[in-house]
Amino acid sequence: MKTTPVVCWAFASLQSLAAALTIAEINGNKFISPYSGQAVTNITGLITAKGPNGIWIRSTTPDTDKATSESIYVFSSTVGAKLAVGDIISLDGKVAEYRSANTYIYLTEISSPKNVLVLSSGNTVTPLAIGKDTLPPPTVQYSGLDAGDIYGLPNGQANLSQVNPVLDPTQYGLDFWESLSGELVTVRRPQAIKVPNQYGDTWVLGDWAVTGKNQHGGVTMADKDSNPESIIIGSPLDGTKNPTSSKMGDQFEDITGVVQQTFGFYNILPLTALKPTTFSSASVNPSTFRSAGKCSAITVGSYNVENLAPTSAHLPKVAAHIATYLKTPDLLFLQEIQDDSGPTDDGVVSANTTLTTLVDAIRAASGVSYAFASVDPVANADGGQPGGNIRQAYLYRPEVVSLYKPNPGGPTDATKVVAAKGNGKGLGGAPTLSFNPGRIDPGNAAWTASRKPLAAVWRASGARRPFYTVNVHWSSKGGGTSLHGDVRPPVNGALAARMAQANVTGSFIAEILALDPGANVIAAGDFNEFSFVQPLRSFSAISSMVDLDEAVKTPAEERYTYAFDMNAQSLDHMYVSPALAHSKVTRFEHLHVNTWAKYADVVSDHDPSIALVAVCGC
Ligand SMILES: *[C@@H]1O[C@H](CO)[C@@H](O)[C@H](O)[C@H]1NC(C)=O
Ligand SMILES: *[C@@H]1O[C@H](CO)[C@@H](O)[C@H](O)[C@H]1NC(C)=O
Ligand SMILES: *[C@@H]1O[C@H](CO)[C@@H](O)[C@H](O)[C@H]1NC(C)=O
Ligand SMILES: *[C@@H]1O[C@H](CO)[C@@H](O)[C@H](O)[C@H]1NC(C)=O
Repeated sequence: MKTTPVVCWAFASLQSLAAALTIAEINGNKFISPYSGQAVTNITGLITAKGPNGIWIRSTTPDTDKATSESIYVFSSTVGAKLAVGDIISLDGKVAEYRSANTYIYLTEISSPKNVLVLSSGNTVTPLAIGKDTLPPPTVQYSGLDAGDIYGLPNGQANLSQVNPVLDPTQYGLDFWESLSGELVTVRRPQAIKVPNQYGDTWVLGDWAVTGKNQHGGVTMADKDSNPESIIIGSPLDGTKNPTSSKMGDQFEDITGVVQQTFGFYNILPLTALKPTTFSSASVNPSTFRSAGKCSAITVGSYNVENLAPTSAHLPKVAAHIATYLKTPDLLFLQEIQDDSGPTDDGVVSANTTLTTLVDAIRAASGVSYAFASVDPVANADGGQPGGNIRQAYLYRPEVVSLYKPNPGGPTDATKVVAAKGNGKGLGGAPTLSFNPGRIDPGNAAWTASRKPLAAVWRASGARRPFYTVNVHWSSKGGGTSLHGDVRPPVNGALAARMAQANVTGSFIAEILALDPGANVIAAGDFNEFSFVQPLRSFSAISSMVDLDEAVKTPAEERYTYAFDMNAQSLDHMYVSPALAHSKVTRFEHLHVNTWAKYADVVSDHDPSIALVAVCGC
C-alpha cells in the first residue's frame, strides 16, 4: 500500500501530458514550475510579443486562478523568425527554470521549441492594464518568507526557489509579479521614481494605489513597508533605448511590455522605449535655517560627498551645494574625504590639500572661510575605494564654533571621555576628550576595513558649556542581496559589522551622558542603515540618542537621503542627546539636491541634511 501515492501521481502526470498542458498548468501557482526539466508537447498560445531571443505566448484556454500566469516566455533566437504577433501557435519544448546568478529568482520558460505550427493568424492582442485587468500590486510586503518584514532577523533564512511557496498575489509583491510572469501588460500613467541607470532601465509606478509617495514623486521606505508596488521598465524589445535623462517625478506615455524576471529583478520589457510627457517641476529649496552666529542657534550640516579628492570634477559643485542650499552652516560633518592623491595608492594619507581645495572653493562661492579638523587614517585600513583613504572631517566657522581644548589624535589613538575634576557647572566642570578631535576605539575589531568615528568637543560663541560631536561612516551594505532576490529575508550586507559599530559608538556617547545627562551631543553622518533597523535601534538604546527626524517629526515620506533600486531611503541621519531633542530651537531637514536631480546634475550619491540647534548649555 505504501507505493500507492507514487503510482497515482505517475498516472495523473501521464494523463495530463497526454491531454496537453495549458500554460497556467506549466507555470503552476508557485515560483518553480511543477514541470521543471520536463518535455512538453502541443502547448497552444497566442503570440503577444517578440524579442531578440524569443517570443511570449498567452494561453487560449485560461483558468480563473490569479496565482497562475497565463503567459510564458519561449526562449529561442530563431523561433520568432517566421512568426508574427497575433499568431496562435502550438509547439513542443522543454520547461526550464533559468537564472544567471544563484541569488536571483528563476524565470520559468519553454526552451528548445520545436514542431511549431501556426493555427491561425491576425488575432487581436490586448495587453492587461495593471491594477485594472489584473489585481493591484501589493504595496507593503515582498514575500511570505520574510517573516513579517524584509528587515526581519535573522535574515537569509530561506530561498524562494527551495521553499517554493504557493503565490499570494494579493499580499506579496514578488508573488504578484511572478503571477504575471511572461504576461503582456500596460502601465498607465507611468512615473519615474528615481534616475534610470546608465542603460535607461527606469523604476516606475503606474496609476495604481501606492504607499510612501514623497513630494518629489519617489516612494520612501518606511518601517515594514519597502514598496513592492514599483517595477523596472527594462530594455525595449525593438532595440530602441529608454531615455537616460529622466528623474524622480517625470511622467511618460502609457507603456506596454512583458513581465520578465531578468538580471535579478522583475522587469517590464517594453515593446518600444519610454516616451517622456511631463518633466517634474518640483524643485529643492535652499535651507531657511539661520544661524544666530552664537550658541543660541547654530546651523549644523552633514554631507557624504562621495570620494572627494582635490582634483574631483564634482568638488566645485559640492562647494556650491554647501553655499547655495546649506547656506554655509557653522559646523559641517563630511564623509568620504579622500587623501591628497585621491584614489592613487601611494601611501599618502593626508587630506590637507583635499580639504584646503574644498574650503577655497566654498570661499569663492560664498565668501565664507572655513577651518577644518580631521584625523588621517592608517593607509588602506578603513575600506572604501582602494588608495583613497576616505575619512570623515569637520568644517567649521571659527568665529562661531571652535574646538574646545584642541589636542588632535593620531590614527591609532583612542580618544577617551575624561570627567572634569569636581564635575561641576560651567565650562571647567564639563567632560572633555583626551584627543580632540580623536577617533573612537580605532583598534576595536568592529572597525576592521571601516571608518572609525571622529569625535570632537566644541565651544560655540557665548556658550557656558561645550558640546560634543561624533562624525560616523559605518560599514556599507555591500554583499547584501536584493529585495527582489531568491534569499529571504534578503541579506542586509555587513549587518554584523554595523551591530558592533552601533555598540562601540553608542557606548562612547553613553559615557559622556553618564557624566553629564544634560550634555548637548550630536552624532551625524552616513550610518549606512535605516533608523528602524536593528543596528540603529540598538545604537539609540545604548546611547539614549534620539533620531532628529523623530524629534522634529519629519513627515515619514520625506525621510530620505539616498535612492536605491525602488526606494528613497535614509542612510544618513543626525542623532541628538535628549537635551537637544527637547529643545524648542531644534529644527532639521534633508535637502534632496541629488536624489531628485537628473543624472547629469547629480553631485553625490547622498543628499545633505541640516539642523538648527541651541548649544549654550547651562
Ligand atoms: C493539440 O491541442 C489541441 C487543444 O489545445 C487539440 O485540439 C489538438 O488536437 C492537439 N493536437 C495534437 C497533435 O495532439
Ligand atoms: C540559498 O541558496 C543558495 C544558493 O544556492 C545557497 O548557497 C544557500 O545555502 C541557500 N540558503 C538556504 C537558507 O537554504
Ligand atoms: C596638514 O596640516 C596640519 C595643520 O594644518 C599640519 O600639522 C600637517 O603637518 C599637515 N600634513 C601634511 C601631510 O602636510
Ligand atoms: C557591547 O559590547 C560590550 C563589550 O564591549 C559587550 O559586553 C556587550 O554585550 C555589547 N552589547 C551589545 C548590545 O552588543
